Amino acid sequence: MLQNVAESSPASSDIRDYLAEQEQKSMLRFLTCGSVDDGKSTLIGRLLYDTRLIFEDQLATLERDSKKHGTTGDEIDFALLVDGLEAEREQGITIDVAYRFFSTPSRKFIVADAPGHEQYTRNMATGASTADLAIVLIDARKGVLPQTRRHSFIASLLGIRHILLAVNKIDLVDHDQAVFDGIVEDYSAFATDLGFASVVPIPVSARYGENVVTRSDRTAWYRGPTMIEHLETVKVDEDKAQRPFRFPVQYVNRPNLDFRGFVGTIASGTVRQGEEVVIAKSGKTARVSRIVTADGDISVAREGQAVTLVLDDEVEVSRGNMLVAPDARPQVADQFAANLVWFDEHALIPGRSYLLRTETDQVGATVTELKYRTNINNFSHEAAKSLEMNEVGVCNISVQSPLVFDKFADDRTTGAFVLIDRITNTTVGAGMILHPLRRAANIHWQALDVNKKARAGLKHQKPAVLWFTGLSGSGKSTIANLLEKKLHASGRHTYILDGDNVRHGLNRDLGFTEEDRVENIRRVAEVARLMADAGLIVLVSFISPFRAERRMARELMSDGEFVEVFVDTPFEECARRDPKGLYARALKGEIANFTGVDSPYEAPENADVHLETAGRAPEEMADELENWLRQRGYC
Ligand code: ADX
Repeated sequence: MLQNVAESSPASSDIRDYLAEQEQKSMLRFLTCGSVDDGKSTLIGRLLYDTRLIFEDQLATLERDSKKHGTTGDEIDFALLVDGLEAEREQGITIDVAYRFFSTPSRKFIVADAPGHEQYTRNMATGASTADLAIVLIDARKGVLPQTRRHSFIASLLGIRHILLAVNKIDLVDHDQAVFDGIVEDYSAFATDLGFASVVPIPVSARYGENVVTRSDRTAWYRGPTMIEHLETVKVDEDKAQRPFRFPVQYVNRPNLDFRGFVGTIASGTVRQGEEVVIAKSGKTARVSRIVTADGDISVAREGQAVTLVLDDEVEVSRGNMLVAPDARPQVADQFAANLVWFDEHALIPGRSYLLRTETDQVGATVTELKYRTNINNFSHEAAKSLEMNEVGVCNISVQSPLVFDKFADDRTTGAFVLIDRITNTTVGAGMILHPLRRAANIHWQALDVNKKARAGLKHQKPAVLWFTGLSGSGKSTIANLLEKKLHASGRHTYILDGDNVRHGLNRDLGFTEEDRVENIRRVAEVARLMADAGLIVLVSFISPFRAERRMARELMSDGEFVEVFVDTPFEECARRDPKGLYARALKGEIANFTGVDSPYEAPENADVHLETAGRAPEEMADELENWLRQRGYC
């Protein structure tokens, strides 16, 4: 009934027509690259204003504010419009990138506006992940700058195929064609290496609206399109719906025993009811018996649609898995090569464990090898031990359990990931997968008949890794040594891994930089794991100053096997004891990267055993530890 009324109302049929028309239009996603001084805000403001996309009330405010705060005399300062929106956005603390939607009679647009200076690559990587085109802004007076190259390079890495080179402030160089041509030549010289499908240079003045939406009569020498003409007509990449079917499973919906559906958004391709799909991780096949949506069942679904798929078979599928086309399967591997863009102030450290997150999956991951860092100025490959903020490189990555993915060049959704710091939970890098490492796929775990349980059983003990952490001179080795004597005396099979000793052999090649310490701990944690697998009670005595690596060590071991013992002796006390004379030298500046002096110690927050050593005898603490272990059935 209500519906009939609505249908007969002229206003709502206008809305219907409008919506239907919008549905038909193609969509262009783009982002702008450039710093504030290049006129980014002014350009977007001008684009919205000249396409009549500013509401009347916004316009009135803008005119008033321009007179008050503007830098443009009596004219409208368009930067204020966009900056005003930015100020509103600043109140929402979680949003890094604002998406602005507008449309003209022939196309719909989504602009990702990535603000910020320091964090620019982070914002850009977030905004660019789905963009078809990047507007690279150049100040005509300054020409191509290092950041122009950086942004263009990152745009190409992020899979953006089209560049609109906006040579802005052309009015300030007297609309001189020679200046424009020079910049275009400079830009083309390096952009050819980046493999864009199109680069369209346009001379513009955002401030005066020249060649943004309205053609300028002061650039009569320019015959190309205006910005909006180009944005409306540029032909973007082929339809994602034509690509092989990819459905990353977001979660499994099982409200009762009669229904089990896989919920997610189709990343690419289409799926039909009755069609066969493959469960990527297991390689098993099943048929799609239903495609359920909020509006009921449908028979076909395509890229971008959020659906629930029901299969005809009780196959094992969980979050992070992918339903895919049987004749075009993705990669499933636990090692691969990738381009990595690093955002974080804290450098990337190979060997450190991060969380790797894809559309729907999340696994522990380490960069096993940094193959090179890319020099942004000449795109040459440089040897590097780590990646600093805003740097880009190619690396090998190893993940804890196999991941389903495509090469980024084939699919920007299923080929992309981010790395997350496990302690701070911030996104520290973005990755684009190049290819799986074949060798990874060919190494399998050897199933051995004599296993950990059998080995430990013969020794009548429960394997454990007692991990002593604390400053140099805190008493770790002394306590570990006393405890080992006690365990040994009661017939336990033990082994001590001690920092000073292991550094004479296995880790002889490592020093005390952050990278080397991470590698030091990684290796010793792996050794401790093998020893626990041999059925031993392992006592590990290393400063192990970083939370991330101690956590990594814990995760390597079986549940309950890892016992973190914090030997808590204040820095002043360690420096006073100074058993090896190292503190005296470090404090004089003779030893670099000394823990507690010029290299940090991150104290454990939730150690299993916290030994405050002040005023306590080592024997007493060894006793306390032994009791602790006994009560929990370790010995
Ligand atoms: S860790 O930080 O990588 O875990 P580890 O426990 O292996 O360190 O080695 C620490 C021992 O190396 C110290 O007990 C000390 O004897 C010696 N050492 C030499 N240089 C340093 C340094 N710069 N910082 C800390 N310890 C050092």
